[in-house]
Amino acid sequence: MGIWRDQVVPRATDLLLDTAEIRRLRRETVAGVRGNVVEIGFGSGLNLAFYPPAVHKVLAVEPSAVAARLAAQRIASAPVPVEVVGDDAQALPVESSSLDAAVSSFTLCTIPDPRAALEELLRVLRPGGTFHFLEHGLSPSTSVARWQHRLDPLQRRLAAGCHLDRPIDRLLEDAGFLLGDLRNFELPGPRALRPFGYLYIGTATKPGCGP
Ligand SMILES: C[S@@+](CC[C@H](N)C(=O)[O-])C[C@H]1O[C@@H](n2cnc3c(N)ncnc32)[C@H](O)[C@@H]1O
Repeated sequence: MGIWRDQVVPRATDLLLDTAEIRRLRRETVAGVRGNVVEIGFGSGLNLAFYPPAVHKVLAVEPSAVAARLAAQRIASAPVPVEVVGDDAQALPVESSSLDAAVSSFTLCTIPDPRAALEELLRVLRPGGTFHFLEHGLSPSTSVARWQHRLDPLQRRLAAGCHLDRPIDRLLEDAGFLLGDLRNFELPGPRALRPFGYLYIGTATKPGCGP
């Protein structure tokens, strides 16, 4: 699975997650981001074009060398400075309480221990700092969820560890985030794709008062 995981999946992700509908959702996800930001699972940098001028700097965390190569051109022409700081969201090389915001798109599905990554985000965010997410995960529909559980082992093998059935809202609250606005919906498309397209888009806050 080495070539598939290391070479094919990052290139396929770069293409499949760059549709007009997903670009619109990316723009919505990062619209309220400001200050110094960490983006986990930075991938090929598909969110970069949508960061608003209120963002000072993006710290990128990404383990895939191919994704990093695909990101290079986007980083060079980005509207904000980007610094690649690490390769694992579960152990961020970032000072505690030093950042204003964090961003993740289609990444909490893939990180081996999402709880550890969320606890790291809580550590590096300042009190009142915000986490902006666009993720796919567990559907509230019993029949769709049943298919998500069934297909999960296959999806993990084909999509480099991506899980279909993670309950993103519960993960955020269990880790200690305060959920803010959350919008859930299914991406439009054929019925057979329903297990892959239940989305969670919104923000969550680190408890405490910010400056
Ligand atoms: C489905 S891709 C999404 C990429 C990008 N966020 C986007 O929206 O296009 C999931 C990403 O998570 C990255 N990833 C996997 N494990 C990770 C980890 N432990 N820490 C940070 N990123 C990770 C993968 O390399 C991949 O780039």
